[in-house]
Amino acid sequence: MADTNVQLQELIAEMEARRAKVSLGGGADRQKKQRDSGRMTARERIDALLDPGSFLEFSTFAEHGANRLMQGVEAPGEGVVTGRGTVGGRQVFVFSQDFTVLGGSLGKMNAQKVVKIMDLAAKTGCPVIGLNDSAGARIQEGVDSLSGYGEIFYRNAIYSGSVPQISAILGPCAGGAVYSPALTDFVVMSRGTSYMFITGPEVIKSVTREEVTFDELGGADVHNKKSGVAHLEGEGDAEVIALVRELLSYLPQNAREKPPVTPTTDPADRATPELLDIVTTDQRRPYAMHDVISSLVDDGHFFEIQPLWARNIVVGFARMDGKVVGIVANNPKVMAGTLNIDASDKAARFIRTCDCYNIPILTLVDVTGFLPGVAQEHAGIIRHGAKMLYAYAEATVPKITLITRKSYGGAYLAMNSRDMGADVVYAWPTAAVAVMGAEGAANIVYRREIQSSPTPDATRAEKIAQYRETFDNPWVAAAKGYIDDVIPMEDTRRVLIQTFAMLEEKQESRPFKKHGNIPL
Ligand code: HXC
Repeated sequence: MADTNVQLQELIAEMEARRAKVSLGGGADRQKKQRDSGRMTARERIDALLDPGSFLEFSTFAEHGANRLMQGVEAPGEGVVTGRGTVGGRQVFVFSQDFTVLGGSLGKMNAQKVVKIMDLAAKTGCPVIGLNDSAGARIQEGVDSLSGYGEIFYRNAIYSGSVPQISAILGPCAGGAVYSPALTDFVVMSRGTSYMFITGPEVIKSVTREEVTFDELGGADVHNKKSGVAHLEGEGDAEVIALVRELLSYLPQNAREKPPVTPTTDPADRATPELLDIVTTDQRRPYAMHDVISSLVDDGHFFEIQPLWARNIVVGFARMDGKVVGIVANNPKVMAGTLNIDASDKAARFIRTCDCYNIPILTLVDVTGFLPGVAQEHAGIIRHGAKMLYAYAEATVPKITLITRKSYGGAYLAMNSRDMGADVVYAWPTAAVAVMGAEGAANIVYRREIQSSPTPDATRAEKIAQYRETFDNPWVAAAKGYIDDVIPMEDTRRVLIQTFAMLEEKQESRPFKKHGNIPL
């Protein structure tokens, strides 16, 4: 008996010693270096993400296959910590790459750990969170590491739209370590401590002779402002992880569920008289669409996605009467809210994200059209703009459109008009629905009359006024049934909430297909 106890104690001691070694990752020195660089360790990040005490770790004692180059190389935990836990009481699966172990590089066994939790997430219908801090393919493992990435990319794609996948980028991520995040629903970067690039500054210098710093090449600002690769950025790991936690609160566990409802004290019938001061009848005076959104949603809280890129369109999540809605809105303050290539990509992607995860869409329209210009045409605005048309038509979630002011031309359709599948279209009395603005229209339609007139300026003014009176208002569109109702601005929140409630159980199907063929 005593012998058995001693043996048992020895086994337990061995387990604890092995676990302690794995927990230390690449060792105390490398962990110190990691912290000194302003980054948390892989396990500290998991602690920050998950509810206390909820983490169950898997594949803790995994080891690499020790090929010729890896013989004698120690990689405790294989450079990644994986498992499940809860965020706000809801189950998620997580992998956290450990930069202190061979730079968090990905070899075959490292990939197997990630694949295991991705498969568990898919089987149990739960989100996957990747805390990325990796130098990419583990060079010593050659094709095995490429294969490992292949297995992860494959799952990123086939689970896309089935369970939410969120990537936090928390260190220098290169090669495969950026393509996997790019395949997920959301990318959140830490400012100053994270980078994303396919090839680093050294390689770029040797190939193109361009000299660039890590930050200039692939820092958080670059990907949040210029490339549109990232969706959000935060100051350091803690802020990024807090953003991921909040993001999760707007998403369902999987595509079969609806997002969670958050009780609110903000009355569903709260009047919104402030809108009368925000939006004026002067069509030339831009206003802050963000103020309009804040007025309409619960507690004025709007969780904007990609706030720094393509700012001429605004997208993000909010709640109305506790229920999550996705908002797509023109931003009259930037480029007069016109739609260009980046805005189209941003909106189309967001609309599809909402549709994947059963999030109703509210579209707020104030748009004069697509941005004219040779550069836009040559860069394919036709192809990119088509994505918006496609995404709205494809989406089967409840869709409400509210025209706040101008809604002209192709952009009227691209912002989810009745014909493009809006379930209900509202307008404010300030709305104007037309093929184009009165000045442009009068100049084209009455050009000859204006040119041949003895008083061309007076004739032009008269024609503009005539056109404006006829079309620059909501009444023609309302009379023809393109607008379901013209509503008082101060009653908008109540009307929208009641309409979303009406659409709550909406069902809509599409003809059989393998999948659609969105113009990419
Ligand atoms: C194995 C690696 C590694 C790698 C770094 N290390 N990259 N080990 N495979 N890819 C090791 C280093 O030897 C070092 O080990 C430790 O990780 C930390 O690396 P440092 O260079 O000291 O860190 P730092 O100065 O912070 O620079 C980080 C870095 C740099 C910018 C990421 O390490 C780097 O450029 N690495 C190579 C990136 C790369 O080219 N990856 C392959 C991409 S191709 P010690 O023992 O000293 O701690 C790819 C293919 C898939 O991913 C593509 C699919 C589409």
